[in-house]
Amino acid sequence: MERKWWHGRTAYQIYPKSFLDTNGDGIGDLRGVISKLDYLRELGIGLIWLSPVYASPLADQGYDISDYYRIDPRFGTMDDMDELIREAKRRDIGVVMDLVVNHCSDEHEWFRKACEDPAGKYGQYFYIRERKPGEALPCNWRSYFGGPVWSPLPGHDNLVYLHLFHRKQPDLNWENPEVRREIYTMINWWLDKGLAGFRIDAIINIKKALPFRDYPADRDDGMCSVDNMLFAARGVLDFLDEMANETFRKYDAFTVGEVFNERPEELPLFIGDSGCFSTMFDFAETVLNQGPEGWHAQAPITPEQYKAACFRSQAKTRDTGFLCNIIENHDEPRGVSRYLPAGTCTGPYAMAAKKLLGGLNFMLRGLPFLYQGQEIGMENTHCERIEEVDDISARDQYRVALAAGLSAREAMESVNRFSRDNARTPFQWDASANAGFTSGTPWLPVNPNYREINLEAQRSDPDSVWNFYRALTALRENPEYREAVVYGETKPYLPGQKNLMAYFRRAPSNVLLVIGNFQDAPQKVRLPHAAKTVVLNNLRECVIKNGVLYARPWQFVVLAMK
Ligand code: GLC
Ligand code: CA
Repeated sequence: MERKWWHGRTAYQIYPKSFLDTNGDGIGDLRGVISKLDYLRELGIGLIWLSPVYASPLADQGYDISDYYRIDPRFGTMDDMDELIREAKRRDIGVVMDLVVNHCSDEHEWFRKACEDPAGKYGQYFYIRERKPGEALPCNWRSYFGGPVWSPLPGHDNLVYLHLFHRKQPDLNWENPEVRREIYTMINWWLDKGLAGFRIDAIINIKKALPFRDYPADRDDGMCSVDNMLFAARGVLDFLDEMANETFRKYDAFTVGEVFNERPEELPLFIGDSGCFSTMFDFAETVLNQGPEGWHAQAPITPEQYKAACFRSQAKTRDTGFLCNIIENHDEPRGVSRYLPAGTCTGPYAMAAKKLLGGLNFMLRGLPFLYQGQEIGMENTHCERIEEVDDISARDQYRVALAAGLSAREAMESVNRFSRDNARTPFQWDASANAGFTSGTPWLPVNPNYREINLEAQRSDPDSVWNFYRALTALRENPEYREAVVYGETKPYLPGQKNLMAYFRRAPSNVLLVIGNFQDAPQKVRLPHAAKTVVLNNLRECVIKNGVLYARPWQFVVLAMK
């Protein structure tokens, strides 16, 4: 496997709207990000991905772009963006923007022109089909945010357009070479500015299985998941390879794909040495226990399931390339509220358990990708009523739960478990009003636990979650262990021992053994042979006697082996 400039870094996702507000309008902004670059450097971050800051009506929080060449005034100006790229580079931090090109906003000029003249040039930029009143829609796919993927084209009773996501996110027609050319021009325009690369949104959806047709319904609404279509579609890699040739490869850009549902044999084509992306996210843990019924039917994830999913991903990428390892992002609940058993975050072992989860994920082979607030152990928030929820996906899932016969209370329980708002509450900087995020009213309420969980409190506490993450990022840069931490082969250790997640990271220079006792009770772990040093420990002590580690509840250690 070829070595790349970004392999040894630690990446960090910023959700700008919730990071830091500098002008009191309650919305985080680019100046807020610029002012925290030193903080990110201090944390050991070498790459940041910004969720979208382009001009947008924010129907899906910026994943609905109305102008790819402008910064939304709520986030700042193009000068701010240029300054951010420049200032980050000075600190050896690469800036990665979100590339949202499966769809644009219905307020984008292209779509407006398509509505004016569906038969003209811009009509071909989208998927527009005829549908006479009373006729069936072109197909029965259910949009990701609920309801059919077809909506009436404004101003035309007999036409409908395709949107796999919200109706304000019309899908772009990638079959049209002119659309592709527009997109490549835009990508290069940004790369010329000195951007390190892109995180590529929802990209698997760009290839549609055509002609449109129905698949078997999977709920009472008579519709089916888009997954059926994705499974049937062929040829996404042709588009992606062309895009990479026209753009990323010319710049040695870093690209990370949001790829679900890839076929195993395609992995090298995505992230191998000559793959179309640098890397992609590992969603194996995220999708555990998901089913067609929706959030309300999703069982909690056990430590054994989590471990097995991580190990499967490690095995499949062995020599192929790097995946990005995450425990959360802006679409997922907080990792500590999800992968730790219920009650852990409020129990006596909360600190140790949060560090264990972070450590087990961070030490896997691949690129560790932190999400803002993860480094201080931010947790899910709580809403009493659906009206308090902003996330359009959660609002849909609430309706789905009610339709399945759940009470309003039960439906809210599932919303609280999975709502995307959980990750989108403002960053908790300190214990002052609104967690130091804004001097105004935050666009989304701050998690009330900010008085206990905030950066300022954790800075001065040597045992804090934050200081533990700093130790992890430092270990990745430590010349003695870097080879094993970044490139070492992953080999599961005692994978059959329940609630133990342990693995080797082997390099020619040294061998690390990562051990996590994934439970509330102590556990004995027989070591394969003697350890040289304890490189990292989430507790004060590490008891090893006669070749056995007496792991305390939620203990996590990294041992350098002889
Ligand atoms: C991706 C984004 C998500 C967005 C969707 C549509 O999954 O991460 O936030 O809603 O694409 O763009
Ligand atoms: Ca602001």
